[in-house]
Amino acid sequence: MLKTIIEKLYNENNLNQEELLMLLENLDESSREYLFEKAYATRKKHYGDSVYLRGLIEISSYCRCNCFYCGIRRDNASAQRYRLNKDIILECCKKGYELGYKTFVLQGGEDAYFNDEILVEIISKIKMNYPDVAVTLSLGERSYESYQKLYEAGVDRYLLRHETATPEIYRQLHPGMNFENRVNCLKNLKKIGFQTGAGFLIGLPEQNKENLVRDLMFLKELKPEMVGIGPFIPHKDTPLKDLEKGDPEIVLTCLAIIRLLLPEVLLPATTALITLGSHYRERAFYVGANVIMPNLSPFENRSKYALYDGKAFSGQESAQELVNIKEQVIKSGFLPIMERGDNILWKRK
Ligand code: 5AD
Repeated sequence: MLKTIIEKLYNENNLNQEELLMLLENLDESSREYLFEKAYATRKKHYGDSVYLRGLIEISSYCRCNCFYCGIRRDNASAQRYRLNKDIILECCKKGYELGYKTFVLQGGEDAYFNDEILVEIISKIKMNYPDVAVTLSLGERSYESYQKLYEAGVDRYLLRHETATPEIYRQLHPGMNFENRVNCLKNLKKIGFQTGAGFLIGLPEQNKENLVRDLMFLKELKPEMVGIGPFIPHKDTPLKDLEKGDPEIVLTCLAIIRLLLPEVLLPATTALITLGSHYRERAFYVGANVIMPNLSPFENRSKYALYDGKAFSGQESAQELVNIKEQVIKSGFLPIMERGDNILWKRK
């Protein structure tokens, strides 16, 4: 029965709600192995053994949001706040470019300092200096007009996880925010033409398998070009500090299902997953992940961008870290790729 469902997922890249639930609830060791095989075959068919490397620059730990799970939430008075100025961001890009990166991901909290004008200035400069790089932003919810300006300045991709597709859970965890607005932002990003990234957390309070099915169905409907998922990991200064962390095995199962639902998706082995054990990186590649995002932020800021406790941090400078990561990717049987690595279905409007 499960085998039939997995074959349908592999052949049609789709399942209905009942089938997805059946899959999540009844996977045993052998059917799970079968699911992983099919996910691996699918990643191989579209992306071969490639693993794309993106340089991540964490530009601000200020945030106006107050998400219950997040270490840089507004009300965390113990959080160490910093923001990188334009020159430092450009310096990180310079270093990254010299190391061979062709994608820079600028990520940060929702920090009003980074208004459209400042961002456009920074992005234009990056694009002028390095016309062959892709720029990805991950800076939260903004207006349609703002996203439009950023796209016109040359931004290629935008990451905005939906976090959970169950509106009640969404409301409980995100004071002052709502799921509808999140979805609107994601639709706007797609409409404008960004390669758009969505994704969710695994192990949130009240979240059960039915909620995960909603997340998976949401992704299938939205058809994002990128998907980032990871385990919830508690942060000691947040309201969820005593909650159990998410189960990495469920993350791996969801990665495999996402690879099969969206065969061409760019799917990272996320830092949160790797924080639960460095061996999960290799396992993620074997179930369909094809991206990693090494840290390019200035060394002295890295510990301050603390979204959760124990965030994986190699303690190495970017250059050394890159050498090691490439070595690990190769050892795992994959090919580290520094090219832009756009979603193969995407064309800039
Ligand atoms: N555990 C795991 N992931 C987290 N994020 C924020 N806080 C946590 C946490 N405690 C994730 C969110 C956000 C991304 C940048 O980091 O999903 O979208």
